[in-house]
Amino acid sequence: MLASFKLTFRPSSLRASTFVLYTTTRSQSFFYKRSKPLASRIMSSSSNNKFAVQNLFNVQDWVVVISGGGTGIGLMIAQAFANNGARVYILGRREDALCRAVEAHGGDKLVHPSGKIVPLPCDITSKESIENFIRQLAAHERHVDVLVNNAGISQGTSAVEKGDESPEALSRELWEEKSEDWGHVYKTNVMG
Ligand SMILES: NC(=O)c1ccc[n+]([C@@H]2O[C@H](COP(=O)([O-])OP(=O)(O)OC[C@H]3O[C@@H](n4cnc5c(N)ncnc54)[C@H](OP(=O)(O)O)[C@@H]3O)[C@@H](O)[C@H]2O)c1
Repeated sequence: MLASFKLTFRPSSLRASTFVLYTTTRSQSFFYKRSKPLASRIMSSSSNNKFAVQNLFNVQDWVVVISGGGTGIGLMIAQAFANNGARVYILGRREDALCRAVEAHGGDKLVHPSGKIVPLPCDITSKESIENFIRQLAAHERHVDVLVNNAGISQGTSAVEKGDESPEALSRELWEEKSEDWGHVYKTNVMG
């Protein structure tokens, strides 16, 4: 379902893709909503309207899912979409953190009347939890426009500056890292 367009930024070495945005079914859902076939739509109207700035950045009624949307960068992305009319589902393991985010920025605090921020607890390292999330989402939505794969952790990060002291100091620093920490980071930031 989520496949056709992918944007990836790599600000950190361990985070394989900090933001992976897959927009996909957007165009499909657009056509589902309208009965005119694609060919006749192209023939009968100019596409100029799409390029007007108010349409170019229009996300009203989009369905957006943001992992790690309860805090930090994910929350800022959630605010950006919801304040422009999108229905934003924020995921995280801590329900209280998600609810705090909604309390602080959602509901009638949003400046766009169509905007929504909805908390949905989910652990992206657990298939069962993801399935449960999908079931809950599917009860409200028929498609997803944007998935922001933002959730991530940082555990046992070494101070690479130790390398300025000596190669041995850097070696000791790296050797002290625990393989379980690397496992957790990989499971969340890469597999999740
Ligand atoms: N801030 C930076 O300078 C920086 C630099 C490079 C890359 N990044 C990356 O950018 C992303 C956001 O960073 P941030 O600074 O906004 O960090 P943050 O505030 O710690 O946000 C990370 C979010 O991910 C969620 N999360 C972690 N593990 C999860 C799991 N297993 N399932 C579901 N949600 C999970 C956390 O919620 P719960 O704990 O409730 O699950 C939290 O809301 C991360 O992927 C981070 O690695 C950040």
